[in-house]
Amino acid sequence: MVATDELRASNVARFDHLVSDRAVHREAYVDPAVFDAELKRIFGRVWVYVAHESQLRQPGDFVTSWIGRQPVIVARSADRRLHVLMNRCTHRAATVCQERAGTASHFRCAYHGWTFRNDGTLISPTFGSGYDAEDFRVEDYSLAAAPRVDAYRGFVFASLAPAGPTLAEHLGNARTYIDLFCDLAPAGDIEVGAAGSNHYGYAGNWKLQAENGVDGYHPNFVHQAFLDNGRGGLAMQLFNGESAGRAADLGRGHALLDSRPTLGDVHERAFRGNPGGQAHYELLVDRLGAERAAEVIRTNGGQGFNLLVFPNLQLIQIQIRVIHPRRVDLTEIDLYPTLLAGASEQTNAARLRSHEGFYGPAGGGAPGDLEMFRRVQEGLAVESVEWLPLLRGLRRTELGPNGELIGHVTDEHPQRAFYRRWAEEMAG
Ligand code: FES
Ligand code: FE
Repeated sequence: MVATDELRASNVARFDHLVSDRAVHREAYVDPAVFDAELKRIFGRVWVYVAHESQLRQPGDFVTSWIGRQPVIVARSADRRLHVLMNRCTHRAATVCQERAGTASHFRCAYHGWTFRNDGTLISPTFGSGYDAEDFRVEDYSLAAAPRVDAYRGFVFASLAPAGPTLAEHLGNARTYIDLFCDLAPAGDIEVGAAGSNHYGYAGNWKLQAENGVDGYHPNFVHQAFLDNGRGGLAMQLFNGESAGRAADLGRGHALLDSRPTLGDVHERAFRGNPGGQAHYELLVDRLGAERAAEVIRTNGGQGFNLLVFPNLQLIQIQIRVIHPRRVDLTEIDLYPTLLAGASEQTNAARLRSHEGFYGPAGGGAPGDLEMFRRVQEGLAVESVEWLPLLRGLRRTELGPNGELIGHVTDEHPQRAFYRRWAEEMAG
């Protein structure tokens, strides 16, 4: 392995020496200096998912989230424009909105009462006679806003960098899978928030979840009790050594697990056999044509694919998962099961039941991953073993038609994809 002390000495402020295509250094997960740099160089610059437009249909609708650790309010103002406002009063810095979502024309800071319109403008300071015109101009005290906001298929992203790649450039090949995720809805739109959400945390670094959501090597071990439950064994075939599934580096840090080669038309047949399934299929054929309709049903009628959008957004089964770094060893997760706009109640209910079974608070899957993250973070305290290898499938890579690096579903292409982009951003 590389002599890290030497590298560190020659590379003090860069951190990209902590990863290569072959391994990640433990300090990437435990060093608070790395974490601080990630907040600035990754979350402070790249496009970060903040909300879905279906949560913000009416003027006044808002949701709160974070860009890295910086709290934001995503709000639709009376003129229907979307704003990503920093949730930070311009007086003494208190957050001005405490709710996760709601409808409000104004945000009133509870500390000294300053009140802001939902486009961020300050109406006036309270007890205004104490402010002299020569010192204080009300227009200088609007809530700060993210300099760049854009959306793709209703997924709203913000960037704290005034200039840089466009959202379309950032998303690159990931757009293909966002399209598949949304196109299953008869109306072509997903609904976020209407089905509620799960929020939970774990005592581990945020990158453990980024890696794990596209890790096809672990399910047959961590999730064996759930997958191997006598349902004919198909679930255990998705992620075994002989699986036909694929894992891919999509470029720009985005990554994919693709189970469609194993599933074939299983989901398509099951979907069309459900009550209302044939009618749903016909709506899709009208909108998309027969070939595309079959493709979208095959993709996410079930466990079609897992997508990681760098740095912290995942589309898994029917859910949008957002990873929030809190401390170097503490992470919070927001998980939104989505509904299909225009689908029957039975279809959406069936999606939710299958989601709850694996991902819900008492689900058979997600809690196992969280226990693994805790164990990894504890194991990382061992200092004499410095590197975590990423060697699986390194030499069995195919090139896809759009430049993707593709391998077996249990290979570590997705993790190498993530860390390649991580290193680029962390190099300064
Ligand atoms: Fe908001 Fe004082 S901190 S009004
Ligand atoms: Fe898992």
